[in-house]
Amino acid sequence: MIVLGIESSCDETGLALYEPGKGLLAHALHSQVALHAEYGGVVPELASRDHIRRALPLLQQALTQAGIAPAAIDAVAFTQGPGLAGALLVGASIGCSLALALDKPVIGIHHLEAHLLSPLLSANPPAFPFVALLVSGGHTQLMRVDGVGEYTLLGDTLDDAAGEAFDKSAKLLGLGYPGGPEVSKLADSGDPTVHHLPRPMLHSKDLNFSFSGLKTAVLTVVRKQGETLAPQQKADIARGFVESIVEVLVAKSMAALKQTGLRRLVVSGGVGANRQLRAALDAAAAKRRCQVFYPEMEFCTDNGAMIAFAGAMRLQKYPDAARHDYAFDIKPRWPLDMVCGA
Ligand code: KG4
Ligand code: ZN
Repeated sequence: MIVLGIESSCDETGLALYEPGKGLLAHALHSQVALHAEYGGVVPELASRDHIRRALPLLQQALTQAGIAPAAIDAVAFTQGPGLAGALLVGASIGCSLALALDKPVIGIHHLEAHLLSPLLSANPPAFPFVALLVSGGHTQLMRVDGVGEYTLLGDTLDDAAGEAFDKSAKLLGLGYPGGPEVSKLADSGDPTVHHLPRPMLHSKDLNFSFSGLKTAVLTVVRKQGETLAPQQKADIARGFVESIVEVLVAKSMAALKQTGLRRLVVSGGVGANRQLRAALDAAAAKRRCQVFYPEMEFCTDNGAMIAFAGAMRLQKYPDAARHDYAFDIKPRWPLDMVCGA
């Protein structure tokens, strides 16, 4: 069964072909980072238009890479939500039209479920059950994962997501978009002893997060330093921010492992690409004789491979989830617990 995956929920257009047993046959990706950079964030209308421009050439590229004709596609999976409505509509309409033209089933995929399962695409995949730390631009969640479609929410952010905190802090420091990688790079040359920023909810008894106070702390420090920040001052603030957010993410992840009694932690979403976070999680998990799994770097941020993979996993486990009606709808807001089961 060859599944075509289409991702278009935000600022990446991704198309990929996945075949269970064989693996990833092809994946093609276009990032809109350059398009949105001058605005300091994603402009939804520009994102939708660019998805329209890129999707079919990327599909052709993926088919050529896999060496197959469109008729060889057995099912089409597309990101149905959550995400930007206009951007989601592009992937949904292309996915459903293609499936209709090819007379093949179609399935709408939850973007976060795809992130959650993306580490299973790697050469050394984790076995179920595991604890998942999902850290993206829009979400920060800890989840217990017992299998495909079997998710229990353990903790969530009460306000900003981890990636959002990175992006907002980057803006306050006058860095480019997306902010996460920039803050991370700058933090490397910063002094960790200069700024001790708050660790929000570090000692709360639950597994929830809150990052809006951390962003305000960055703002307060930036204001205190005066008009223009010297490069070293910026680096010190970036370092203080990274130290704080990493400590909270690691502490809550370890607490989730303890609470569930599980020994495997799976990290996914864009912030999962962060080197400081990876190093700290690896060290903390090793102390507890736990293992940490990450998606390949290229599959941390949005891509079509994770959608094709999630589609294939769902269709194998829940064959009734395959639709033949092609009346597409999108779910810009869609809680992950709604996708438990078929
Ligand atoms: O998963 P993703 O590509 O999109 C969403 O589904 O949100 O995540 C994007 C987020 C952005 O906030 C970006 O700044 C952050 O992931 N990010 C990083 C790094 N790479 C991407 N944050 C920290 N360090 C990184 N290396
Ligand atoms: Zn994402």
